[in-house]
Amino acid sequence: MGFNVLDLKFAKDAIPPISSKTMEIHHDRLYAGYVNKRNEIEELLKTADRSKAVASYSSYRALKVDETFNADGQILHELYFSTLSPTPKQPSEDLEFVKKAKEDFGSWDSFIEDVVACAMAARGWAITAYDFRDKKLHNFLADAHNHGGVWETWPVWTVDVYEHAYFLDFGSDRKSYIIEIIKYADWDEINKRFLKAKSIEKILETK
Ligand SMILES: [Fe+2]
Repeated sequence: MGFNVLDLKFAKDAIPPISSKTMEIHHDRLYAGYVNKRNEIEELLKTADRSKAVASYSSYRALKVDETFNADGQILHELYFSTLSPTPKQPSEDLEFVKKAKEDFGSWDSFIEDVVACAMAARGWAITAYDFRDKKLHNFLADAHNHGGVWETWPVWTVDVYEHAYFLDFGSDRKSYIIEIIKYADWDEINKRFLKAKSIEKILETK
């Protein structure tokens, strides 16, 4: 059984900074393409010749490299789309995620400033993740879907800064895109992801 392409939870024109054309290309073609390619690669891996696997070039290596590219492309886009809300609102002070971001970054403004800086510095993604080791939120930078991931952290929010996410609507003005897209963050959904991380943490600490 392969992976399914998940539907958007809003209409394609429901996030005003992003045009329906961008949303259509981004969700229906690019994101769906990663899911479909992941399924295709997993099928090909079932019969790939493992005996000829070498690091210089081998068909097995090519499949394994692009397996992570498409798997992470799928996962990061599902997080990106699912943490957008058509109804912009300020994050509630009561959300555990908000409290934790303030604790770990000194203030909410400092946290957002770090997300923006990370997104400006990245060629692919800014990813807010909870690290089970130091029990803190971090903003990680990924230059490609499968580059920059930190193992044993739990991503709670992503900002897609590949040009395909904004170029039709913002041209090269990436900063305006980042500022605008953050206004449409679904803080309740991001908080749910954070609470999930805390639940997993409890399981990890069970001896
Ligand atoms: Fe994207």
